[in-house]
Amino acid sequence: MRVLVIGGSGLVGSHLVAEAAARGLTVTGTYRKFPTPGLVPLDLADAAAARQLLREVQPDWVVHAAGWTWVDGCEGDPARAERENCEQPVQLAQLCQELGCRFAYVSTTYVFDGQSGPYGETDQPNPINVYARSKWHAEQQIQSVLGGRALLPRVICVWGREAQGKNFVYQTLKSLREGRILRLPSDQIGNPTWAGDIAAWLVGLMELGESGVWNLAGDRENGTRVEWFCAIRDAARRLGLVPPGTEPGYQAVPTSELKQPALRPLHCGARIQRIQERLPRTPRSPADLTGWS
Ligand SMILES: NC(=O)c1ccc[n+]([C@@H]2O[C@H](COP(=O)([O-])OP(=O)(O)OC[C@H]3O[C@@H](n4cnc5c(N)ncnc54)[C@H](OP(=O)(O)O)[C@@H]3O)[C@@H](O)[C@H]2O)c1
Repeated sequence: MRVLVIGGSGLVGSHLVAEAAARGLTVTGTYRKFPTPGLVPLDLADAAAARQLLREVQPDWVVHAAGWTWVDGCEGDPARAERENCEQPVQLAQLCQELGCRFAYVSTTYVFDGQSGPYGETDQPNPINVYARSKWHAEQQIQSVLGGRALLPRVICVWGREAQGKNFVYQTLKSLREGRILRLPSDQIGNPTWAGDIAAWLVGLMELGESGVWNLAGDRENGTRVEWFCAIRDAARRLGLVPPGTEPGYQAVPTSELKQPALRPLHCGARIQRIQERLPRTPRSPADLTGWS
């Protein structure tokens, strides 16, 4: 099976490239602004370049693990969010339809309003910020283009080693090393999800030829940011990754006090029964920092 991963230089995409290669698939990954050894350049804004790459690679599956993922940034530029998170992936889906290959689009449980999580795959989305609306529009339009054959993994609170070092584990380690107090939302709930679990499940779903929405997430669907921070902090202290100490290192405040430009859906956990029945797996604990430095 040949797989093309758009966004191979990102958090989810880099784990997917590694997992596909480890499982003996022929995989090509792309980067946009972050040159990465072994990956090829592609900006989806260049539709001709995308077409050329698909013709060269002739993939069985294309995975879109890309887009503009900065939630507060999207809030200030809805046109860009819609272009990069919806219009470009929809064009890619059209190309896949034309060339006869399968398509997966990595989406988010932020498509929900967060009033009544955790959510299953058949619950009705109701996005409350610009980023989430662009992802929900994309899901619907892609599924329409592909006649329901698109694979739509929804993920949440992703962590893992990544070259660009952006995710919550890096933020936590950095604040502890600098002796800062991190202000954390006391009321945001969801499953911390290791990117390696997403990759393993996603490759499995592609091998099975699956389609439709699948929640791919860790097993703590009611986890809070504070619990996640404490799990990282305690593991990091045990492993000597940060200075020892007894101070908490965080201050918990309601989301409303953080004055973030984009509204946050507060309870956005994902139920994972569906994937656990299809591809049983024990997700990595957010306290497992083996291999971090
Ligand atoms: N991380 C999370 O917690 C989370 C939660 C829910 C959903 N998701 C979804 O999961 C997907 C992957 O997220 P992530 O956290 O792995 O993102 P990420 O680390 O920000 O990586 C994004 C990737 O997309 C590439 N990219 C961005 N714009 C592009 C464009 N116009 N054309 C081609 N490539 C482009 C980036 O390339 P360069 O870096 O080289 O420019 C990078 O490889 C996204 O669709 C996101 O919406 C993520």
